[in-house]
Amino acid sequence: MKGTFPIEKWGNITTPFYFYDTTLLKNTLEAIKKETDKYNFTQHYAIKANANPRILKLIASYGFGADCVSGGEVRAAIEAGFSADKVVFAGVGKADWEINLALDADIFCFNVESLAELYIINELAIAKNKIARVEFRVNPNVDAHTHAKITTGLSENKFGINLSQISSVIKEAKTLSNIEVVGLHFHIGSQITDMSAFKDLCIKANELQDSLEKEGFTFPNMNFGGGLGIDYHHPNHINIPDFENYFAVFNKLVERRGGQNIHFELGRAVVGQCGNLISRVLYVKEGEVKRFAILDAGFTELIRPAMYDAYHRIENLSSNLAEKEYDVVGPICESSDVFGKEVMLNEVKRGDIIALRSAGAYGEVMSSQYNLRNLPNSYFSEDFE
Ligand code: LLP
Repeated sequence: MKGTFPIEKWGNITTPFYFYDTTLLKNTLEAIKKETDKYNFTQHYAIKANANPRILKLIASYGFGADCVSGGEVRAAIEAGFSADKVVFAGVGKADWEINLALDADIFCFNVESLAELYIINELAIAKNKIARVEFRVNPNVDAHTHAKITTGLSENKFGINLSQISSVIKEAKTLSNIEVVGLHFHIGSQITDMSAFKDLCIKANELQDSLEKEGFTFPNMNFGGGLGIDYHHPNHINIPDFENYFAVFNKLVERRGGQNIHFELGRAVVGQCGNLISRVLYVKEGEVKRFAILDAGFTELIRPAMYDAYHRIENLSSNLAEKEYDVVGPICESSDVFGKEVMLNEVKRGDIIALRSAGAYGEVMSSQYNLRNLPNSYFSEDFE
């Protein structure tokens, strides 16, 4: 089964482009809202997954907050209508101008990843006569069982403050005049489909909270990050992730203190399935051992297969001919510019429209102009109704 696309209405739109299914995005946002409302949880959308202004505006209109990792993202969040008191700013390397911008915007909090950074935030807050609210990002040493390049919660990763150091960092923070500690933050990795990783996280967080409370530290907010994966193999059948089960795990296992807020920062699970990279076939090349479908899109538009060996389902939207086997490749002058090897596609001809599915997260936003290519345009299904 292939996805349904208004391909006859696309006419001569220049390919490659991103095509977003607005209805699916809205249904996904409704599903998240239903589950978070159930438990009074708060979702901060991880802007890094997709910062398309129309997508940001739509997500902001559902009342979600925003998780940002740069000054540019903080600015984009505010411009899109996210309320500043629901904006958090994370990242191991925040530049001074970015911290200043966030202080000026009065964001909800900084997710702090080191003592060195904490001192600078304090200094910059003093200069502005402001109090900076901070959550400490803890590296809980939990294995997310995902691709090594998107695992973040192990002691060897650069992220967060190690468990053994967290108590002394908080003690130090309490001595700083313009810092207010408002919570703990965790994020163990991305594209996590095994709920046991999240269960381990809940248990680690409970243990840590118990032991820090014994030292007299309490936390009005606990932030469990993002990481819920999507089903890249079945975008036509399972296009809304199982939010019910995901949030139920946290509701069941987190020992929530009275009045405590529980925050999440899902990115991929929000936007992953609603986006598709649409491209045309330039050439079919019959090699000695391989048959290549050469597309006008390459890793400049979707880098995930080249960078993480990621799988994206590929469909030929123009053909219902019998299937043949192809290596589906892009035009970039690098041998890693391959979207899929030995892919079965309805027979391909020059000009056929090819959809790379589940590309809404870390697709458009990671595109580049390498080889001096143009950045892709984006279109939304609601514009073709
Ligand atoms: N919070 C923090 C602190 C993060 O570092 C991330 C993602 C998220 C939330 C959102 O995670 P999500 O819910 O989207 O899994 N480019 C890679 C993924 C990198 C993820 C980086 N951090 C990819 O295409 O797979």
